[in-house]
Amino acid sequence: MSKLIKMLTEGASCAEAHADPLSVTEYEKAGGFAALKKAASSTPEEIIAEVKKAKLLGRGGAAYPAGSKWEHLLHIEETPKYIVCNADEGEPGTFKDRLIMEKLPLKLLEGIIIAGLVFRAKAGYIYVRGEYRKLQKRLLAAIENVRAAGYLGKNIAGSGLDYDIHVISGAGAYVCGENSALLNSTEGKVGRPRIKPPHLAEVGLFLQPTLVNNVESFANIPLIVNMGGDAYLQAGHPDSGGSKLICLSGHCRNRGVFEIPLGKVTLREAIYDAELGGGISGDRKLKFFHLGGQSGAIGSVDQLDTVYSYTDLRKAGLSVGSGAIVVMDESVSIIEYLKGVTEFFIHESCGKCVPCREGNRQLLKILNKLAVPNLPDHSGVVRQATTDDLETLRRLIRTMTDASFCGLGQTAAAALNSAWKHFKTEFEANVRGTK
Ligand SMILES: Cc1cc2nc3c(=O)[nH]c(=O)nc-3n(C[C@H](O)[C@H](O)[C@H](O)COP(=O)(O)O)c2cc1C
Ligand code: SF4
Repeated sequence: MSKLIKMLTEGASCAEAHADPLSVTEYEKAGGFAALKKAASSTPEEIIAEVKKAKLLGRGGAAYPAGSKWEHLLHIEETPKYIVCNADEGEPGTFKDRLIMEKLPLKLLEGIIIAGLVFRAKAGYIYVRGEYRKLQKRLLAAIENVRAAGYLGKNIAGSGLDYDIHVISGAGAYVCGENSALLNSTEGKVGRPRIKPPHLAEVGLFLQPTLVNNVESFANIPLIVNMGGDAYLQAGHPDSGGSKLICLSGHCRNRGVFEIPLGKVTLREAIYDAELGGGISGDRKLKFFHLGGQSGAIGSVDQLDTVYSYTDLRKAGLSVGSGAIVVMDESVSIIEYLKGVTEFFIHESCGKCVPCREGNRQLLKILNKLAVPNLPDHSGVVRQATTDDLETLRRLIRTMTDASFCGLGQTAAAALNSAWKHFKTEFEANVRGTK
């Protein structure tokens, strides 16, 4: 039985009926905007009830239940409210929101407009990764077409609501994907995280109640409204309905974005099935896989039979995260790989808090000492790691995880922490004495 499905990505291939992704007429012919019309004649409570039944978990990485988030915002009386779509997609190894914006922009807009209707919001914003310049233009063109068709602007879909969507460009900072930093950046401020509480549902964009959801989360909303929450749930895992876009990269034969039903595919199938990853390229064997982005955990060969669902992966100490699956073969040194991960976090740390700003630098120093061959430090001296360094490494991981201000620092050592469990001997291979 095929492990690939096309719930969300139906119409994403040029060969399919919905050929021009920017054409409202073609989108309507393929059933587009039916969910929006249904939402316009439903109560907010009815729509949110379906999202809750669907058990849609946020696809941006944190896996927060969308229904609960929407319900919370609905109960806040203060107005105006804002809708924000997180299209920052800064997580390395993640390129699925890009596919949605390129191939299914109208589905995404429909989801953001439905949210606007539910909350009688003042406006919607899509915060797009700075490097996605072409996609920003594409979204603007799609918005123009949707406005011309009467689904944006004044009295949208005859609902009495005036609502429009604006596109905001990021400027290349990974931390701006964190939802509060994203709102600061949207307001034109420095893109650094805010202290929480207050939650963004209460004090969000322009200090007003705000909904922030990921691109893939919003794109699933029309589907849920059309098919109903129960059917959507059944298509996935009992704890988290629907499908997930996974991004396969690295040493697997087939690299790209694939849609799989949640809870019905194992990691082994995702990596080895001919219509998914297709196995390891060349003659080499799999050594490890990195799930959910750089902030996710690393898994080893003995975890391959874990089912790809939020629940099963969590039980195995792994996570869905952004949907990234970076596959690495036996030629890769785990220490060298982790050095790359840590260099990424040093580069992307916003510098606001000490555990993250300094912790990542200290991790890299120790990783350099653990690497074979050792690299000289800043004074040109080649140092080898000691068992004390390993203890320091463990303490740094704990401190960064517990004391960093935002999710970036809290998860920066997740890969290292998990790799330590699987590849202890590789960590200890280059360690001498106790000093
Ligand atoms: C450092 C950092 C970077 C993040 N980057 C993104 C991102 O690029 N895209 C995204 O949707 N969520 C990202 N998130 C998660 C968001 O903070 C937030 O949880 C998400 O946008 C909520 O949408 P969802 O509930 O639909 O997943 C990031 C979080 C952190 C801590
Ligand atoms: S953990 Fe601290 S330094 Fe790191 S990105 Fe967040 S706020 Fe900035």
